[in-house]
Amino acid sequence: MWRLFAIVFAFAPCIASAAPPMTYLVSHGPAANPITALGWGLLGLSIFVAAFISLSVLIGIWWKRGRGDYDEVGWPVLSRGRNGMPWLTIGVPVSIVLLLLSAIWTFFVLGATAAPSKSPQITLLITGHQWWWEVRYEREGAPQLTFDTANEIHIPVGVPVRLRLMSADVIHSFWIPQLAGKTDTIPGQVNLAWLQADKPGVYRGQCTEFCGLQHAHMAMYVIAQKPHAFNAWWTAQLRDASGPTASLALQGQSVFQARCAICHSVRGLAGSQGVLGPDLTHLMSRRTIAAGTLANNTGNLAAWISNSQSLKPGNDMPNEDLNGPQLQALLAYLQTLR
Ligand code: CUA
Repeated sequence: MWRLFAIVFAFAPCIASAAPPMTYLVSHGPAANPITALGWGLLGLSIFVAAFISLSVLIGIWWKRGRGDYDEVGWPVLSRGRNGMPWLTIGVPVSIVLLLLSAIWTFFVLGATAAPSKSPQITLLITGHQWWWEVRYEREGAPQLTFDTANEIHIPVGVPVRLRLMSADVIHSFWIPQLAGKTDTIPGQVNLAWLQADKPGVYRGQCTEFCGLQHAHMAMYVIAQKPHAFNAWWTAQLRDASGPTASLALQGQSVFQARCAICHSVRGLAGSQGVLGPDLTHLMSRRTIAAGTLANNTGNLAAWISNSQSLKPGNDMPNEDLNGPQLQALLAYLQTLR
């Protein structure tokens, strides 16, 4: 047992720095750092209290063994004046002090993460859907600088980003543990939050409020970039889709307009303003499809379009009954959405 503890503690820094897909053991921004410190602090305190109590019980059992001192067994501790009361008068105040200190620390963390130290220049509108995240970039007073994307949030490093969190259906919860605490998205209400990444990287998040069958397949990624890289991405996202020129992709565009456009938008494509599914204007710039469920590549796109219900049962996308040539053409068109 002790050997196991020793191994865990010896390797704890390695476990924490190995950067698993989604971790809350390390953090990389001022909206999350105080929470991570509190988490480690409370974990340490809990381990100490559990170990202390376990040790006390073991010592108590060992101490009394074979001394024939069992005359008061059966009486509650409180009425055992001779042995019980001293421990009670020590234990209760110690517990109260530890719990109070934990509460005070928690209040300080709430205060420290309530608002960023400088006013955010970027505001994102994030809407939870069953089961994906709609992300809208806006600039106040400049509607031409608005665009929608999904499930992947690009931000510049080192600056706070304000989040306006909403829901289109049920309660979801938005959580990027390395960058900020979690905030629910509630139908009919706008919840404010913020996050900031202090170093470039890809930070995974996850819906953390049970929201139906595919709750587990409702991931999102924050991609924190150096300012010039973020600006390049932002400028590219602002552009409408450039129509295809190759004949196969042009056929695919017709398939898209007939079969997909009722639910999905592609900016710049006539008749494609659907709002039920993610905006696909720059689909190929994303790493994953279906809210982090599959890597974004041609094979997975084909599988998703043909039979999304087997990959993510219950999602709103029907299985498209396309024939081979239609599917090939549609895939060729989607490849142009860069
Ligand atoms: Cu959305 Cu769980």
